[in-house]
Amino acid sequence: MEVIIKRDAQEVSLEAAAIFRRQLQEKPDSVLGLATGSTPVALYRRLVAMTQEGDLDLSHATTFNLDEYVGLPGSHPHGYAAFMRQNLFDHVKVARWWIPDGMTNDIPQHCAAYEQAITDAGGIDLQLLGLGSDGHIGFNEPGSSLGSRTRLKTLTMQTVAANAQYFASPAEVPRHVMTMGVGTILEARRCLVLAFGEGKAKAVAAMVEGPVTAMAPASALQMHAVCTLIVDEAAASLLQRKEYYRWIYENKPAWQRA
Ligand code: F6R
Repeated sequence: MEVIIKRDAQEVSLEAAAIFRRQLQEKPDSVLGLATGSTPVALYRRLVAMTQEGDLDLSHATTFNLDEYVGLPGSHPHGYAAFMRQNLFDHVKVARWWIPDGMTNDIPQHCAAYEQAITDAGGIDLQLLGLGSDGHIGFNEPGSSLGSRTRLKTLTMQTVAANAQYFASPAEVPRHVMTMGVGTILEARRCLVLAFGEGKAKAVAAMVEGPVTAMAPASALQMHAVCTLIVDEAAASLLQRKEYYRWIYENKPAWQRA
């Protein structure tokens, strides 16, 4: 796993935006896996600015979001469809975007169809991920099968509490979600994980330097051949091999840079 440590969230987002730009230059019709939550907001803002400046073209790209709350319609202000429109799709044109339908009345069938749509699109080229403070990726909470596919999951109390900031009260946070599985995520050709702040430091250390375990689903990314993690200083604070990661980055050959 490649670990890049940047000074702050802004620098992390700039580096991530450069990776998106390179991906789209190399393959304009890339299939992108996208995330929601607070982590990617600055990156999406940067992608919008780059598009407006003529520096990025997403118009041939297809996107698949990782997850959606069960029971929230696409129009719900706190649903992830609304989040994506507000942060990205109202501002940049993509060829097609997919997000699980929180109002489906057949969850298993809908999740299987979502997997099939990813396969039909040719698989995900670049998967963006945030990291839960309990080590989740997508909404694969601790204990999730590392081979799991898109399916229904129940959020942990920790995740409900973390996401309550977006709702009027914790009681309004849906308990259930549909999420790509860990196995689905691992099939992406490249994974890009972003994490900021002290609150993510334990999860970052478990992901990078802990054992591969379902108790820290992000640790499954140690099995991925092309995974980049970009963190700020605070999120990197518990990494034991910080100085080595910095050394690798400083000595990176020019052709490998985004
Ligand atoms: C969101 C998602 C989640 C978040 C994670 C971190 O689509 O899949 O895994 O990335 O909960 O959330 P934030 O970024 O709000 O800290």
